[in-house]
Amino acid sequence: MDIRKEYLEFFKSKGHEVIASSALVPDDATLLFTNAGMVPFKSIFTGDVPRPTPPIRTSCQTCIRAGGKHNDLDNVGYTARHHTFFEMLGNFSFGEYFKTEAIAYAWEFVTEVLKLPKDRLYVTVHENDDEAYEIWQKYIQKERIYKFGDKDNFWAMGDTGPCGPCSEIFYDQGAEHFNSDEDYMGGDGDRFLEIWNLVFMQFERSSDGTMTPLPKPSIDTGMGLERVTAIKEGKFSNYDSSLFMPLINEVAKIANLTYEYESGASFRVISDHIRSVVFLLAQGVNFDKEGRGYVLRRILRRALRHGYLLGIKEPFMYKLVDKVVELMGGHYEYLNEKKEYVKELIKLEEERFLATIAAGLDLFNEELAKTKDIFSGEIAFKLYDTYGFPLDLTADMLREKGLNVDAAKFDALMNEQKARAKASWKGSGDAAKESGDFKVLLEKFGENEF
Ligand code: SER
Repeated sequence: MDIRKEYLEFFKSKGHEVIASSALVPDDATLLFTNAGMVPFKSIFTGDVPRPTPPIRTSCQTCIRAGGKHNDLDNVGYTARHHTFFEMLGNFSFGEYFKTEAIAYAWEFVTEVLKLPKDRLYVTVHENDDEAYEIWQKYIQKERIYKFGDKDNFWAMGDTGPCGPCSEIFYDQGAEHFNSDEDYMGGDGDRFLEIWNLVFMQFERSSDGTMTPLPKPSIDTGMGLERVTAIKEGKFSNYDSSLFMPLINEVAKIANLTYEYESGASFRVISDHIRSVVFLLAQGVNFDKEGRGYVLRRILRRALRHGYLLGIKEPFMYKLVDKVVELMGGHYEYLNEKKEYVKELIKLEEERFLATIAAGLDLFNEELAKTKDIFSGEIAFKLYDTYGFPLDLTADMLREKGLNVDAAKFDALMNEQKARAKASWKGSGDAAKESGDFKVLLEKFGENEF
């Protein structure tokens, strides 16, 4: 089943205009990356841009959740569901329909197109949303509707922007396969899987926290393609699905190892990270010392370190590009044109980091042997400054040992270095860094992101 196609066609048949995925770097200085399907439509929700005709749309949006407010980077590889790059299927109403229709469409798609069994479905609503609670009872027994507070059932794009209460659809993967204490609705276990978030957009939050009602109540929904694909294929992890296994198999071939789920975190990290890297490079972001390019560098270097753990000590990520393009170039055609360029950039960046990784790992291991509870911030800074190890890479290596890094000391050394650089700075002529956009980013994400 081509879920992407089925989804877009379903909403097209309901009068929605199908919109192509917009860029991963949004036209929005408050965000590092497009992190949800609604991002390109933010100004329509807020009324800053007039409503389009028809005022209802659908899309399959590529998203990145790394380095910003919604940051999943650290979890990738260790959970069944987290990704830095993923595709979000969504339908959007700009003041046209609201809860009744959004819920009706979602139920129809899930039960009649995806054909998920009804006795596996659960939903959640915001604890104060009696209206959604009532509407859902037309489709599903009361016992299967859970009420949660803001933490679970209020969605916001960032600290500012459109937001509202939400209602989520969950799929029960079966008690027989799960046995964690957290495997209950609302728990952290994997048994109950959130597949679709319906956001009832009603407010715009400003930077001082004020909530202003939107011109008209609107709808923003988001369904994770990777999750639904895994469910339809009967897999308990997104990484076991046909979206990732071909990449994992490719890594296994390069490493000359057999992939096993239990010990396979490094394979999963690599198969996730290569997708972010390929899409970002194909869209014109490049490796850099700061900003988005630094997040890209962090992603690639994290993958390289995991390659190293698998015994791969030579550039290899570039060899995975063909597979990503084979899997995704049918829907995202620009990948085909950019393939060779992307490979070249990745290979160069791999060579750059691999030149220092061995010495960096030696230093890391030496310090590790001396570490009782907190890893030295000085050494973490030296790893960053001399060997090109981003702080979160060092933190990731320590996490495997159950240790933390002295991030405060690292930050202090980083700030000192910046102050020194500033004192000797005579003006770079780099207008971009002095622009309003950069300042907004700096205020929003802090120095460390840049
Ligand atoms: N914006 C919501 C989310 O990302 C629904 O699309 O979950």
